[in-house]
Amino acid sequence: MKVLGIESSCDETGVALYDTERGLLGHAVHTQVAMHAAYGGVVPELASRDHVRRLIPLLERVLADAGCTRHDIDAIAYTAGPGLAGALLVGASFAEALALALDIPALPVHHLEGHLLSPLLGIDAPNFPFIALLVSGGHTQLMRVTRVGAYQLLGESLDDAAGEAFDKTAKLLGLGYPGGPALAKLAESGRPGRYKLPRPMLNSGDLSFSFSGLKTAVLTAARAHELTEADRADLAAEFQEAVTEVLAAKAVAACRQHRLSSLVVAGGVGANRRLRQRLDEAMAKIGGRVFYPELELCTDNGAMIAFAGSQRLLQGDVADSTRGAFVVRPRWPLDQLS
Ligand code: KG4
Ligand code: ZN
Repeated sequence: MKVLGIESSCDETGVALYDTERGLLGHAVHTQVAMHAAYGGVVPELASRDHVRRLIPLLERVLADAGCTRHDIDAIAYTAGPGLAGALLVGASFAEALALALDIPALPVHHLEGHLLSPLLGIDAPNFPFIALLVSGGHTQLMRVTRVGAYQLLGESLDDAAGEAFDKTAKLLGLGYPGGPALAKLAESGRPGRYKLPRPMLNSGDLSFSFSGLKTAVLTAARAHELTEADRADLAAEFQEAVTEVLAAKAVAACRQHRLSSLVVAGGVGANRRLRQRLDEAMAKIGGRVFYPELELCTDNGAMIAFAGSQRLLQGDVADSTRGAFVVRPRWPLDQLS
């Protein structure tokens, strides 16, 4: 079965073709980063309009790479939420219209389910059940994953998501958008520990997170004196240490509490090298290990949506099929999936 995946929830247009027998046949992503950079963040209306421009060329490219035509597609999975309403509507209406024209099922997919299952696309995939740490621009959550579709929320951020904290702090330090990768790069040349930042909720005894205070602490440190390039690097390094220490500690605590030895990390912040290093070390200590998606599948893409949709279809979730009548859900808690 060949499933086309369409992702358009934010500032990346992703299209992919996944074959349940042969794996990923083709995938292409267009990132709008350059377009939004001038504004210092994502402009929703511009994002929607750009998705309109990109979808057909990306589809044609993916089909050509896969050596397929649109008549080879058996079903279409698309991101129905959470995300920007207008951006989601572009992908959803494109997918639904194409499915109607081809007389095949269309399947709405939860964006975070896509991220969460993305490590299963690799050769070295974890077995169920596992703990998942979802760290993106909009979410920081720990989930217990029993099987495809069964996600139990164990803890989440009470305020800013980890990626959001990276982005906002990067902005404070005068780095461009998107801030996460830029801050991580600056941190490489810095010394952590020179500035002292808090480790929010490290000892709270639960699996909740809070990152908005860190950004304020960075602002306070930045205002205390004129920052040199070296100061900025030291501050970035300390910030990265603080965020990754808390993320790693809580992810390991979740694995211990649930007596699970597999940890899956997904979402854009999962690309962070320091986070990976800390998680690998901490999980090895408890005899467990960490599974990551391929680096290029850490950030938003169509492959994870095609894959999540295909798993749903294999499970017989065709009742979800919409036949042209669809809604998008800009807010959509993952544990409310059935
Ligand atoms: O999953 P994603 O592509 O989009 C959302 O669904 O949010 O995640 C994007 C987020 C952004 O906040 C970005 O700054 C962050 O992931 N990010 C990183 C790194 N690469 C991307 N944060 C820290 N270190 C990185 N290397
Ligand atoms: Zn995402």
